Amino acid sequence: MNFKDTPTLELYAGTLDVQARLHANETQEIIQSLGIWNSVHSVLDAGCGAGSFQKYLSARLKDKSYTGIDREGLFIQEASERTKDVTGVRFLQKDLFEFREEKFDLIYVWAVLQHLPSVKVALQHFSTLLNPGGGILIFDTNQSQEMKFEPNVPSVVKLFADLEAGSQNACRNEKCLDDVIASAPSAGFTVVKSIPSNLKINSPTDRRLLIEYVLRAAELIERFYSIQSDRELVLSELNAWDQSKSPTVNWGGAGWLWLKKTT
Ligand SMILES: C[S@@+](CC[C@H](N)C(=O)[O-])C[C@H]1O[C@@H](n2cnc3c(N)ncnc32)[C@H](O)[C@@H]1O
Repeated sequence: MNFKDTPTLELYAGTLDVQARLHANETQEIIQSLGIWNSVHSVLDAGCGAGSFQKYLSARLKDKSYTGIDREGLFIQEASERTKDVTGVRFLQKDLFEFREEKFDLIYVWAVLQHLPSVKVALQHFSTLLNPGGGILIFDTNQSQEMKFEPNVPSVVKLFADLEAGSQNACRNEKCLDDVIASAPSAGFTVVKSIPSNLKINSPTDRRLLIEYVLRAAELIERFYSIQSDRELVLSELNAWDQSKSPTVNWGGAGWLWLKKTT
């Protein structure tokens, strides 16, 4: 298992990119429904990866200053290169706990808290990075929601069940939204809104993207956790699912939280 080699990181960045493309409309709707965007002038994308949020929501960021921060140099290099001519956008390679220099109106944290050792410590740190009245928009795992292994075909169900087992060894926190809700008050936040993610994948483009995502995930699972999967079987079952009468998928098992700083 080698987490840090360049091909694995590139594969990981590609998987994150597909995931973000699938989620882009939902993310857009969530931001819209919160009605917060006009009062936000500066955004910190904490654990930004290769900058998928900036990439797929660039229209929303036009009049804001955007800072993406991630500890992986390869991701930051890729994102910086892609945006070198875009004003108001910068990417920094840094551990987010070592970043103390500035304050922001909004911190965006997409699928990052589940990887951190302590949700409470992260919230306390984010509190120091926010302007008065600022907030955090979080997307992450939530154990109180049923985890769905979709598309519901045997090889994919097995693949993600293996991932669940493997990721527990890798200290992934499967209930981090519950932890956020529990620690928010003592870290100086009010939970304003909790919204379950309910992504519907039904357009032909999205179905192809989902297939691409599952195949990339299968390769990653193999590299991260040394868990083998029969990728040919996965592909043939996915193609059959794509041709079937009801290929709509509801991607659940995760959710959004909107937190406002109170102190
Ligand atoms: C699942 S990825 C999500 C990436 C990104 N938010 C996206 O939507 O594509 C988690 C990211 O958090 C970053 N990360 C984890 N711990 C970090 C830390 N202490 N400081 C900075 N980045 C961190 C990882 O390098 C990785 O890019």
